Amino acid sequence: MPNKPVALLDLKAQYAHIREEVTEAITRICDGQTFVLGEPVATFERQIAEYSQVKHAVGCASGSDAILLALKAFGVGKGDAVLTVPYSFFATAGYIVHSGAEPVFCDIEPSSFNMDPANVEEALDRHAGKIKAILPVHLYGQCADMDPILEIAKSRGIPVIEDAAQSIGAEYKGRRAGSIGEAACFSFYPGKNLGAFGDAGMVTTPDDAAAHTLRAIRVHGGHTRYVHDTVGWNSRLDALQAAVLSVKLRYLDQWTEARQRNADLYRQLLRDCPQVRTPNVESHSTRHVHNQFVIRAENRDALKQALTEQQIGCEIYYPIPLHLQTCFAYLGYRAGDFPVSEQAAAETLAIPVHPELADADIEHVAARIRAFYMAR
Ligand SMILES: Cc1ncc(COP(=O)(O)O)c(C=O)c1O
Repeated sequence: MPNKPVALLDLKAQYAHIREEVTEAITRICDGQTFVLGEPVATFERQIAEYSQVKHAVGCASGSDAILLALKAFGVGKGDAVLTVPYSFFATAGYIVHSGAEPVFCDIEPSSFNMDPANVEEALDRHAGKIKAILPVHLYGQCADMDPILEIAKSRGIPVIEDAAQSIGAEYKGRRAGSIGEAACFSFYPGKNLGAFGDAGMVTTPDDAAAHTLRAIRVHGGHTRYVHDTVGWNSRLDALQAAVLSVKLRYLDQWTEARQRNADLYRQLLRDCPQVRTPNVESHSTRHVHNQFVIRAENRDALKQALTEQQIGCEIYYPIPLHLQTCFAYLGYRAGDFPVSEQAAAETLAIPVHPELADADIEHVAARIRAFYMAR
């Protein structure tokens, strides 16, 4: 089998398809010389609100900032705690800390890698009265099982804020990510399904008061220039990013469908490979947008090395669960506290699933994976 490089992500190929439209949009912003917020951002906010089937969308500087701003808009601060999962990108917990609160973790489900609703009640009881928000993550493009989480949260009067950074357009029982909880956080980091030409983020919410607060705290806390009732941040969305994202949004559904086709092909090609488990689509997951295609693999590290040597892009998302990160030692967790997350960190490997892949690329990656196990 000859070596054939397959990138984990190919933004150059994506750009080649949309180059003209994007450069036109960028030129319009350059001609107007208005670079921060303004009409392009307002337009993109309306588009995301419509796409995500939610009343308000408020642009900000990154997905990380979206978490911070959403938590602050719901009153989270010093002395509080926020319940989330230990198996996510670092920002999920890191930006809870920036809000002034302490992250509290509960373990994930093995089949979806998302917050296990069965663990929520116990965690809330253990930190009685302290947890002021629940932050489930829709990991890899699939929604967490939200109904039972919302039910528990409602019974305790706690807002649920979705970390939808990886899951724009995903659906839970027909409801779009971003429209399910009290608020949701999106990232438009270049590697996301809808990626900017730099950093960008968004908070969505059905709540008028929260949206009003968000619009102030992303610009230093003032609704009127130089008048400040609260202290906010500088977390404005650039007009250039909004203009690029508005163009890309037109293509998002077709890119998502390509990701879904690629995922289906992997499932077919790896069905008879007992050392690999392809990711599950949960029954509540009416639209999985496959930001990543993450397998569980026997001898994961050796497989990763073999694929890398053959120039097949692959990555471990995430090798160290958050509760075992050195910076969170003060929280007092230990190895063994969240076995499902720890096992996921030891077994998972993301392989290329981006929309620019040809079937032949997927076939090549699957063949290399199978060959790796046959040679052992
Ligand atoms: C689950 C999750 N949460 C939060 C973030 C933070 O987003 P950003 O990188 O735009 O700050 C990311 C992005 O990588 C993410 O994947």
